[in-house]
This record gives sequence, structure tokens and C-alpha cells, in this order.
Amino acid sequence: MAISSLFLYCFLCLWLGHAVLRLEASHHVYRSLQTYSELTSSHHHPDTEPYRTGYHFQPPKNWINDPNGPLIYKGIYHLFYQYNPKGVVWGNIVWAHSTSTDLVNWTPHDAAIFPSQPSDINGCWSGSATILPSGKPVILYTGINPQNQQVQNLAYPKNLSDPFLREWVKVPQNPLMAPTQANHINASSFRDPTTAWLGPDKRWRVIIGSKQNQRGLAILYRSKDFLSWVKAKHPLHSAKKTGMWECPDFFPVSIHGQNGLDSSENGPAVKHVLKASLDNTKHEYYTIGTYNIDKDIYIPDKGSVESDSGLRYDYGKFYASKTFFDSSKNRRILWGWINESSSVEGDIKKGWSGLQAIPRTLWLAKSGKQLVQWPVQEIEKLRGKTVKLPSTVLKGGSVREVVGVTAAQADVEITFGISDFKKAEVLDPSWTDPQLLCGQKSATVKGSLGPFGLYVLASKDLKEYTAVFYRIFKANNKYVVLLCSDQSRSSLNKDNDKTTYGAFVKVDPLREKLSLRNLIDHSIVESFGGEGKACITARVYPTLAIDDDAHLYAFNYGTEDVKITGSAWSLKTAKIN
Ligand code: FRU
Repeated sequence: MAISSLFLYCFLCLWLGHAVLRLEASHHVYRSLQTYSELTSSHHHPDTEPYRTGYHFQPPKNWINDPNGPLIYKGIYHLFYQYNPKGVVWGNIVWAHSTSTDLVNWTPHDAAIFPSQPSDINGCWSGSATILPSGKPVILYTGINPQNQQVQNLAYPKNLSDPFLREWVKVPQNPLMAPTQANHINASSFRDPTTAWLGPDKRWRVIIGSKQNQRGLAILYRSKDFLSWVKAKHPLHSAKKTGMWECPDFFPVSIHGQNGLDSSENGPAVKHVLKASLDNTKHEYYTIGTYNIDKDIYIPDKGSVESDSGLRYDYGKFYASKTFFDSSKNRRILWGWINESSSVEGDIKKGWSGLQAIPRTLWLAKSGKQLVQWPVQEIEKLRGKTVKLPSTVLKGGSVREVVGVTAAQADVEITFGISDFKKAEVLDPSWTDPQLLCGQKSATVKGSLGPFGLYVLASKDLKEYTAVFYRIFKANNKYVVLLCSDQSRSSLNKDNDKTTYGAFVKVDPLREKLSLRNLIDHSIVESFGGEGKACITARVYPTLAIDDDAHLYAFNYGTEDVKITGSAWSLKTAKIN
């Protein structure tokens, strides 16, 4: 680094500490960095390049956040996302656009939606696509108007014969929904319209995230023609003390099987899911419940709440997610934004911030009490060299390397079998917070049934590794399974957030083998426990376990033996812009 830019960089680092403003956008706002591109532009820095991903979606540079308006049209998948074309921090937000025929390889296009009307002149924020009965897609999104109010706008494709839907036209009637004195909507908390659904009365419905004091709201609007929208008297749903609901999502799931449903489906064989991304905690929660179309309200099943005891798609880094119905394969697919665990200084250095999780198919578990998620099957076509792990007993205290795969870019599926549960540790009834428990009983704390699992992105000497592991506890007449993703040793660099994440997995280890799948991609580890019943995504920044110096190990640091079997695959690099 030249002396002058070193000075500039140091100045920025010092200055950054004082320049963090919290604006209504809910993202940290670094005013002077929003258009700061000298360090973020064309060139990558070789020393930090290793953190770019091989098959997780990311643009070549700059800041990204929420996935927007995912859809399929004429066999082509579209992914839009919040993007700052000018810098590595949040700001100048437009809808960037990429398309794909397989959800794996992506082609970039010009930004699809960018400020051009008074109703979005200060930003084009998140929103969703709806496929009209004619097959035509439309997009509802939040615009920021000259008064910095949040309003809802409509855009449609200029040319329906362009399968890439490259150009979008905004209707002159925008904004279609706006805060007024009469409707009591909070102008700085009114954003992120969902996909609309059609009721039996032929009227469209859409919800928009909001809050009234600390009560989180899904404000409901209805329309006959998609242009003129009327606010319903009652929200579709609300919950006290949850704060602003960002990026709500509302969709039906079938009570039988794994097929997805179009957003307008309802009936006796259907349950509904409502998800909210809570700005207060930056965690997402979903509930499963019943949508009463006559009253136009959603009632979560008993015990389903939007709070820390509620259900999450992902217990690690995963936010502002959104589903869409893939009519070509009858499945519902979830996209989620994974932000960084590095410092802003680190992001400036590497020239980018944020990426999208591997899209996941999701469906209702047989229990009806939670969703199950699994990476879209297309990702498996990246599988190259396979290494089979023959069934072996991992004795208490042992570590075994899995050799022969590119451990920095891999897919690993492994199952753990336990034959003797007698020595399971007793679960203290106060251990209700899985993240806390994983932090206290981290990978280096000896147990009986666990910790066992994998060291991923590990250096040869185990100075660095991310430990993804299970522990089994005994509670009243049942066993409780804990899945942890422990980042505490993931990097020698001290500037990163190394929170250890955790989730309880609703499986019965007496009847089922415990399975664990990991998608490893240089600086990201997506873990799927219990065949998709609990997911944890982590961002890690190894300094030693990079590319060919990354290794993969199975370990058992409990006293009891565990039988392991499974496969690991080297994953090829996808075309991700
Ligand atoms: C969520 C969010 C949305 C908003 C967008 C702005 O991350 O804050 O509520 O529309 O990001 O970029």
C-alpha cells in the first residue's frame, strides 16, 4: 500500500469509529464511505482475496443486502438484491439483477430498479414479485421519497418477450401506498411489501412490515386491480414488544409432503407461515398457523411466537430472507442475506460486503410444528471428486482427517450413530438458550455424548478451525440434541465477530441417526442438522486455513464412542457473476 493511501486508510479507520449513525434504514450508515470507492473498486487485494466464495452468490465488489423479488419467468430464475453501486457500506440502494437457469450459475444484468421518480428518489428498498394470472410478473417495492418517507411502488417489465426482463417501468400512479395522517402509519417504519396473494373475492392482498411503538405489524392492503390499494382496518398479524418487522414473508405450506404451493393457495390441507425479520435483534422468526381468509387474519398455532423462544430459519447469520414459489419444480425456495462478521475496515480492505445463502427448498415437517430446509438439489451438480467415509468408530478423544477433498470448497454429509446413551449428560432445566449453551460448552469442553462433529476450514496444526458439532443431553424421558457452530478458533484475526451459534434439533437420537451436512465455501459454513431441521450459517475468515491449506477433520471430544459414516465432495466453482 502506498504511503498516501496508508494514511488515508488509517485516517478512515480512526474516523470510522466516530461516524456510525443509526438511520431509519436499520443499517449502519457511514455517510462518507457510501461513495468511497478508491479502495473498493476494480482491484482485489491478494492478501484478502481468499474470502471470496466459489459458489455462493456475490457480485464482484461492493455492498449487498436483502434478496429482492425472486421469481421464475419462462424458465429463467431472477434474483434481485439490495446493492450499493458505489461502495462497500450500505447506501445508494438500487435493485441489482442477475439471472440463472439452474440457481447455481448466474449472469449479471444492469440494475433493474433505481431511483428515477419522486416516490423512490432517495432509494429503492426491498420488495417482492408477484406473478399475475396472465403470467406477467410485477414488482412491489419500497421507495424513499423526497421527505424520506417510506412508500410502496409498482414496476412491471418493459418487454415481456425479453426472458431476462432487463428493463422495468414504474407506473405513473406511484406511490400506491403511503403513510398519511389519516392512516396513522409510521413514515419511517413502513416497508418491504410481500408477494401478493389473491383471495376468493378476487381481491389481491399484500402485507407491509411496520411497527407502532414497539408492536411489530404486518399491515394489510387489498386491491382489485393491483393499482389502487386500500388499507385494511386490521393488520394481518401483530405482536407486542417485537419492534419493526422488516421483510415480512407470508406463504402457504402443504400439510402433506414437500411440494411447495403458489402464494394464493389455501384450504384444509394448507397451513400458513408468517416470517418477520426483527430489526431490534437482527434475527428472523417464523410462526406456523392458520390464515382465516374470511376475517383476513393470521392466527399462529399455540406456542408459536415471534420471540427468542420462537422458530428461526437459521440460528447463525441469515437475515431479510424471502421465499418464492418455483412453479417449474413445484417447490418453495428460500433466499437469505448473509452479512459479514468482519469489521468495516476489513470490508474496505476486501472490497465487498455480504452475500446470498445457497437457495433452500423448504417444506412443513411431518410433525407440523416446524419447517425443514435443504439446499436446492441443483447445487449437487457442482459435486466433483467424492471421498467416501467408510463406517468407522470414532473413539472418545479422537480426531480423524478426511483427505482428498478441496476442504475450502466442499459439501460434506456425515451421520453419527450412538449405541450407548447411558452416560448422557443431564440437561439442566435452565439451559433453554442453545446459543448460550454452545458458548459455554464449546468444542473444547469435554463431554460424554459429544462434542462430536467436524472441524471445517481447519489449519493442519489445528490452530484455526470452525467446529460444527453435536451434544446429546438427557432430559425427562427424552434426549435433547444440541447443534453448535463454534467460531471461537476460526481465525487468528481478532477483529471478527466470533459468536458461537447454537440450535436445538428436534430429532430422537434413539430412533434416528444424527446427520449433519455442511456447505463450506472459503469464508462461509452453512450447516444443516437433522436433515434440515436446524440450520446455522457462519462467516469465518481464516488466516491459515486458506485454499489448499484448508483441511477437514471429524472429531469426537466426548468420552463415548460414536460411529461415523458419510461422504465429502469437492465442489466446483460456479459462475457467480
Ligand atoms: C433489511 C432492510 C429492509 C430495507 C432494506 C434497505 O435489511 O433494512 O427493511 O427495505 O434493508 O436496504
